[in-house]
Amino acid sequence: MSIFDQFKIKDQVIIITGGAGLIGRRHAEAVLEGEGIPVLLDIFEEPLKKVKAEFLQQYPDRTIETYVADITNRSCLEAIRDELLKKYGHIDGLINNAANNPKVEGGSKNLGAMRFHNLPLDIWEDDMRVGLTGAFLCCQVFGYEMEKQKKGVIINISSDYGVISPNQNIYKKEGVPEEEQTVKPVSYSVVKHGIMGLTKYLATYWAKCGVRVNTLCPASLSNGQNEEFVQKISELIPMGRMSRPDEYPATVLYMLSEASSYMTGATVILDGGRTIW
Ligand SMILES: NC(=O)c1ccc[n+]([C@@H]2O[C@H](COP(=O)([O-])OP(=O)(O)OC[C@H]3O[C@@H](n4cnc5c(N)ncnc54)[C@H](O)[C@@H]3O)[C@@H](O)[C@H]2O)c1
Repeated sequence: MSIFDQFKIKDQVIIITGGAGLIGRRHAEAVLEGEGIPVLLDIFEEPLKKVKAEFLQQYPDRTIETYVADITNRSCLEAIRDELLKKYGHIDGLINNAANNPKVEGGSKNLGAMRFHNLPLDIWEDDMRVGLTGAFLCCQVFGYEMEKQKKGVIINISSDYGVISPNQNIYKKEGVPEEEQTVKPVSYSVVKHGIMGLTKYLATYWAKCGVRVNTLCPASLSNGQNEEFVQKISELIPMGRMSRPDEYPATVLYMLSEASSYMTGATVILDGGRTIW
């Protein structure tokens, strides 16, 4: 197989949780570019429909599966698994991408309630449920199929905040008292560190079963944040800028394909150097 051909995932069925979100749709693009079949799971129907319609314009005649699904609901995942197996006979990959990702940067409303001492228990529990329990259930339901097939790839999406602590200074707003300043909530850090534990556990657990499990850490995505925030965060990044959503698909395709056949349990960090500074 030529080196270039190692990046092909032709007709492989790849499940992407949170597939209608900002990065989820870029993962779908990676799968389409590799000639695979993306299966997008999301709780919201309208964005799913929109993403599918956009991709069908860009990639006519290709198959894109979408399911309105809550990844914290095991029976919902099992029904999707059964339908996919009936239709395709195999499930080849899973990207655990869905997570609650509270936007606390400049321009967003002040979320003083996210401070550590008063973070509501229901927010903490919901963040754990989506970011960790959801990924755990998807690995149980879809990953176990890969174990039985003796073939499969899982990518768990973490963050630079799975490696370092948030620098809360970049979220500070002028004129707001310290105790009311918004912060990136602790639950986000815990989920993003936790998902790496899931990667390492399963990477060794399934190492001899043909199932590879790795972590991808995106960071600092540019998404219309205000100038002040962009400047503050850019100063923390050696490359001096935020990332673009189009800077992820090539790495995702590498991680999904035979091109990365000897990689398991690894953490791939795309952060412009932020975590080494
Ligand atoms: N945006 C960033 O700057 C950034 C940086 C580092 C890491 N990440 C990580 O990348 C991933 C995607 O982030 P994003 O910015 O695209 O977020 P996003 O909010 O745009 O997308 C998340 C998607 O998950 C879906 N979702 C939420 N709960 C769900 C559930 N129970 N079942 C199914 N789907 C559910 C949402 O509807 C949404 O479409 C997250 O894990 C996030 O932590 C993002």
